[in-house]
Amino acid sequence: MANNSIHGMWSSRLAFILAASGSAVGLGNIWRFPYLASDNGGGAFVLVYLGCILLVGLPIMAAEILMGRHGRMSPVNTLRKLTSEGGHSKGWVVIGWIGMAAAVMILSFYSVVGGWTLHYAWLYVQQLFGGAPITDPGATFGALLASPGTLVFWHSAFMLMTVGVVAMGVEKGLERAVKLLMPLLFLILLGLFAYGVSTGKVGQAFSFLFTPDFSKIDGNVLLAALGQAFFSMSLGMCGIMTYGAYLPRDISIPKVAGTVAIMDTTVALLAGLAIFPVIFAFGLDPAGGGPGLIFTSLPLAFNDMPFGIPYALAFFVLLAVAAWTSSISLLEPPTAFIVEKGKVSRKGAALLAAVGIWALGLLTALGFNVWSSVRVFGRDLQGAVEYIASDLMLPIGGLLIALFAAWVLRKEITRGELSDMGNGGFLVWKILCGVVAPGLVLVILYMKIFG
Ligand code: PHE
Repeated sequence: MANNSIHGMWSSRLAFILAASGSAVGLGNIWRFPYLASDNGGGAFVLVYLGCILLVGLPIMAAEILMGRHGRMSPVNTLRKLTSEGGHSKGWVVIGWIGMAAAVMILSFYSVVGGWTLHYAWLYVQQLFGGAPITDPGATFGALLASPGTLVFWHSAFMLMTVGVVAMGVEKGLERAVKLLMPLLFLILLGLFAYGVSTGKVGQAFSFLFTPDFSKIDGNVLLAALGQAFFSMSLGMCGIMTYGAYLPRDISIPKVAGTVAIMDTTVALLAGLAIFPVIFAFGLDPAGGGPGLIFTSLPLAFNDMPFGIPYALAFFVLLAVAAWTSSISLLEPPTAFIVEKGKVSRKGAALLAAVGIWALGLLTALGFNVWSSVRVFGRDLQGAVEYIASDLMLPIGGLLIALFAAWVLRKEITRGELSDMGNGGFLVWKILCGVVAPGLVLVILYMKIFG
């Protein structure tokens, strides 16, 4: 049982919490959560989502961290080590491969969307200095998607920002970045929330998000909520496992997992309470906004509201920062894996991984324009990559992680890693991880694939 990882270690509990929350808090919270909530009946969705976090997300997060901490390597090698040490089937190593493949695919489109946030931040910087306002947000968004050059430029810029941090290593890169960026993120979010309160519409946003209409809960809502729980908590792709590999042994896993879950959920709800008041205050209808909600509805409101331009700039900087700390956690597993091959330095490994993922990202970027007629599984290229990675690979990876941690890993290991839990608490974790979470994931996967 190695006490340290060859890649470096988090210097404190706080460093891990900031890094893991940085991974969890991303476009998923600020871009995806509000439109999923509005498309799926508001309060009903939020309630199911909170249930998924508690029953599925939290136990799997603990499982990923404990597996990582025990293995101390990139996901594939952590699983190799856990299986050979315990004499388990090598087949379980597939968890590491699925996770790494999912990370690569998610980062390839995540970086393109991260590029959108940079592009919008830049548009509002220009407006701050007298540039032309966005009068037709739909057309502005459409023009961005139609331009391969603009998309690839910002995708490249975003990838450079990500590789710049990962190349510097765990302490000097990842840890330094999250210690700077996460407080900034919270500050901007609180500022935007305060603005939301000042519109006088926060009550309406509150009842929209928290009044559950149970008649709205159907298969689709369940599906959307579970998928979002995995995506938002960065689970199933071994990113949290990789971060767990750098966690010092004396830190309590249940406590850090709980804190990260609370941070992730709080940011999603605060983002909702910052965005919906603005939407209501300007008489826009949040229902059916879809993925364009923040890119096409919000700019309309920004034009008319007091301090709209600085507000918009803060909003897109917030999005970019949130996306950045998540993309760092997506690049880290493949980078660590390449480093473990022993042939290249961390800088070389990060660059190698980033170039490959950047190239894959061209599929997404060009799928919006040059290759817009290409269809895979009836979806455009970006939709197909997102579907395969987030909707299939994350839940399948999560399912295998849960089963492996609860039923295959020897109890000395799991009990030892979760040693500060009482026996009752440990039993609850085991039931959630071994029975409840896999059961729910299986039902939902079945509905997704055959429904
Ligand atoms: N959790 C991130 C978000 O909410 C997305 C992500 C998924 C990051 C998977 C890493 C791994 O945006």
